[in-house]
Amino acid sequence: MALLVVLSLCSLALVKGQPSPDVQARISKAIADAASSPKPDYASFVNPFIGTDNEGDVCPGASIPFGMAKITTDMTGYAPAGYITDVTQQIKGFSPLHDSGTGASGDYGLFEVMPLLCPGGYQTCTTHFDKRLRSRLPNTDEATPGYFALTLDNNITMEATATRRAGLERFTFPSGSKPYFVIDLANDNAGTFAGGSMDIDPKKGRITIGGHWGPSFGPSRFNYQAFACYDILHGGQQKLDEYGIWRADDYGMDAKGLGQTHLNLSVNLIGGPIYQSGAFFSFADTPEKIQFRVGVSFVSTEQACANAESEIGSSSFDNILAQAKALWNEKLSKVEIDIANTPANITEMLYSSLYRASLTPNNATGEGQGLFAGTSSYYFDSLYCSWDTFRTFYPLMALHSPVEYAQIVDTYIDGWRKNGWMPECRTNNVPGYTQGGSSGDVIVSHFAMSYHKEAKALGIDLNELFAAALADGELNPPEWNIQGRQVNVYKQYGYIPFGVLDPTSVGRQTREGSRTLEYAFEDFAIRQVALLLENSKEEERYYNRSLFYRNIWDPTVTSDGFSGFMQKRAMNGTFIYSDPINCSPKNVGSRSCSLEQDNVNGFYESSSWEYSWFVPHDTAYLIGLMGGNETFLSRLDHFFDGGYYLAGNEPSFQTPIGYHYADKPAQSVDRVRKVVFQNFGITAAGLPGNDDQAAMASLLTFHLLGLYPVPSTTEFLILSPFIPKYTIHNSYLNTSTTVTVVNYDANSVQENIPSGVPAYVANVTVNGEVTTRCHFDFFDTFRVGGDVVITLTADKDSADSCEGSLPASLSAGGFSQPR
Ligand SMILES: *[C@@H]1O[C@H](CO)[C@@H](O)[C@H](O)[C@H]1NC(C)=O
Ligand SMILES: *[C@@H]1O[C@H](CO)[C@@H](O)[C@H](O)[C@H]1NC(C)=O
Ligand SMILES: *[C@@H]1O[C@H](CO)[C@@H](O)[C@H](O)[C@H]1NC(C)=O
Ligand SMILES: *[C@@H]1O[C@H](CO)[C@@H](O)[C@H](O)[C@H]1NC(C)=O
Ligand SMILES: *[C@@H]1O[C@H](CO)[C@@H](O)[C@H](O)[C@H]1NC(C)=O
Ligand SMILES: *[C@@H]1O[C@H](CO)[C@@H](O)[C@H](O)[C@H]1NC(C)=O
Ligand SMILES: *[C@@H]1O[C@H](CO)[C@@H](O)[C@H](O)[C@H]1NC(C)=O
Ligand SMILES: *[C@@H]1O[C@H](CO)[C@@H](O)[C@H](O)[C@H]1NC(C)=O
Ligand SMILES: *[C@@H]1O[C@H](CO)[C@@H](O)[C@H](O)[C@H]1NC(C)=O
Repeated sequence: MALLVVLSLCSLALVKGQPSPDVQARISKAIADAASSPKPDYASFVNPFIGTDNEGDVCPGASIPFGMAKITTDMTGYAPAGYITDVTQQIKGFSPLHDSGTGASGDYGLFEVMPLLCPGGYQTCTTHFDKRLRSRLPNTDEATPGYFALTLDNNITMEATATRRAGLERFTFPSGSKPYFVIDLANDNAGTFAGGSMDIDPKKGRITIGGHWGPSFGPSRFNYQAFACYDILHGGQQKLDEYGIWRADDYGMDAKGLGQTHLNLSVNLIGGPIYQSGAFFSFADTPEKIQFRVGVSFVSTEQACANAESEIGSSSFDNILAQAKALWNEKLSKVEIDIANTPANITEMLYSSLYRASLTPNNATGEGQGLFAGTSSYYFDSLYCSWDTFRTFYPLMALHSPVEYAQIVDTYIDGWRKNGWMPECRTNNVPGYTQGGSSGDVIVSHFAMSYHKEAKALGIDLNELFAAALADGELNPPEWNIQGRQVNVYKQYGYIPFGVLDPTSVGRQTREGSRTLEYAFEDFAIRQVALLLENSKEEERYYNRSLFYRNIWDPTVTSDGFSGFMQKRAMNGTFIYSDPINCSPKNVGSRSCSLEQDNVNGFYESSSWEYSWFVPHDTAYLIGLMGGNETFLSRLDHFFDGGYYLAGNEPSFQTPIGYHYADKPAQSVDRVRKVVFQNFGITAAGLPGNDDQAAMASLLTFHLLGLYPVPSTTEFLILSPFIPKYTIHNSYLNTSTTVTVVNYDANSVQENIPSGVPAYVANVTVNGEVTTRCHFDFFDTFRVGGDVVITLTADKDSADSCEGSLPASLSAGGFSQPR
């Protein structure tokens, strides 16, 4: 009896689940089969649903690498990327534009299509947003790289595949039913419609839509424009029957105009989600399958149609899907692993992470609008936000994809050309809110440090790159909320004072502690480029500014027996106490911790406990501030074991590897194992919160590879790989670098490394030369190619020192020469 109950509970859970259990079964089989295959199909290892639950905000839609089109369903509930697995939420429609891993109020979700059954004729079609909502058939959601499918509870299946700015959508109806559709003019995920128009050309079978909407994470005064072009006759294979326009609201309007073809709602100042309108249409007879071609553009409806024509033309669904998959395999194969000897979950986590690390930002080259209309530079939308991506996302790209990286650096520099500052958080084509400062400085600096020899050939002028970074570092914009920094007061005081009188600019006067720390690190990034360009004057100035983090260190503050914390400070220099546990997971009471005006804690989305570690360029000095190596180490342990660490938060990315700086690398190995197994997995809830445009995906990738990059430098910290052997191909430098892990034991790949199992780094050789256990340089490894051998031992004590130099810190003489 008891058993039966358990069984039926299990099957109930299964019945209600999403995605389809076939997704995991297929991936597991692909990984098992690949162990003996000479040419693995990497795309088949990817689980696009990781991060679609637990507010990971990942978009599992059909997309090519960096695609502007990401086609998936939009859902009720909190679903900023359109789709979520939560089976209690309903489907609003299927739409071509989304972001992945960005959160906030929701991105795009424009131009939704909803297939309908209207057995009573068109007048009975549920065009109204709420009336047409439908649940899904259980266990049916499907996705692979370049493909997405979902089946509604009325048995209509929706499938999509995509190119960069277009896609094909295929609908399968229950046999014998007449296919009806509704397409929206006015909706989006954030509810921001600001006016637009729509036209139906029944002869051509073409519906064009365009308008203006507001951003997901930026001042609502900014609007962006977007356009779509639906070709609904499948090259003449489908015959239109009824068509017309509709408008609806929640207060009795539910009107349909049969035969009407034009909606001109060009201005909508009243705003928003109450405004419902679009097209409806049906097809002659009862065809089971209907296919649409959709093109999107940020320029015009004409360009949206042209994009669909040039990128898809009359290609079949299967051809476009095969093309998308090939593009993904080309990207994913830049990292090859020993599949046979790697635990299957690790393989799935790795390739799913690598997938998301090439899913965004969205390549909108040729689609610039506003100041970027017609720009001759590359143009990427959704740099959302640089504060998230500078730490691991771009360093991962630097490992294998300098061409793509250079294109994005070009987009940052072009932002400076057009706006005067580099973009910080471009969201929906308009400036979004600044989180830390001008983290774009770190992104372009990391490129310069890694590829200065190739920069010119890759289309980047290093002097221009430096000028762009200097603008961020020197010129206080009128509003530093959206770009640049509040740099006048920062330079004047050496920190950003709390309650500062700033006569020259506006912005949310909050986050003084975290902004000072981020500004100081951005100054280090600028210093690095100055050093590279042998500009000793700026090098020295920015070196000095990069030490400003010291100005907010209050040695008198104590918490849990540890003294010294980063704190906010008044104009007169007095420190203003805030309890270091505020805004940590151990926060007491309710408190604003994000961008709110009443976040008076001094830190952005973090506690002082957490941000007090953030000095990646000068950890040696921080150790001194904290009272020496022993205290630093016990404070690190307490930070994690005492519950202050936030796995899903960017300022904490490097902290688990902090032990390296106190010469205890084996303890970093233990810590990273815990971080990975306590926070990441292969289920839809397998991320510790928002993916933040693959910031999490790229962090996890580095953890699995046993590496950690120090941004704006070419230094990698060495850890214990979760994979016995991998090769990284750099298709521009034409180098391949194989990392072999001697004594690798899959049994070490768990939360707590069992004693007696080799997992700690005994020694490292790079092309035959022994190096320290703690770090090596990009210029000696992945740039030149060859072999890195990491030998592991089970003897933790013997491995718990760097055996050579510690990772670099400015005040210990580190970073004295660029490579
Ligand atoms: C959907 O199809 C299944 C069989 O495939 C059938 O059992 C079910 O009744 C159908 N549901 C609807 C709402 O048509
Ligand atoms: C829509 O109407 C506005 C004025 O209300 C007009 O300026 C505009 O040209 C019209 N646009 C279209 C596409 O009909
Ligand atoms: C792999 O992941 C699944 C899903 O989270 C989990 O149930 C399973 O225990 C994991 N397997 C291993 C070997 O860690
Ligand atoms: C972005 O699109 C442009 C134009 O098609 C193309 O040249 C470029 O290679 C693309 N870049 C990436 C990273 O996808
Ligand atoms: C940098 O700081 C040092 C030491 O305080 C000082 O001597 C030097 O003048 C400073 N340089 C610049 C350019 O500010
Ligand atoms: C410094 O400024 C703070 C905040 O305005 C104030 O509370 C404090 O009394 C001032 N201290 C001195 C010594 O003036
Ligand atoms: C910490 O230990 C390292 C390595 O032994 C040493 O070089 C460094 O000076 C120590 N730092 C402090 C602040 O004692
Ligand atoms: C890499 O190889 C390609 C194809 O063989 C070649 O065109 C290119 O010049 C090579 N690049 C470098 C940096 O050697
Ligand atoms: C590396 O460590 C292993 C295991 O301790 C040892 O057998 C080997 O000789 C060492 N290799 C080098 C180059 O030191």
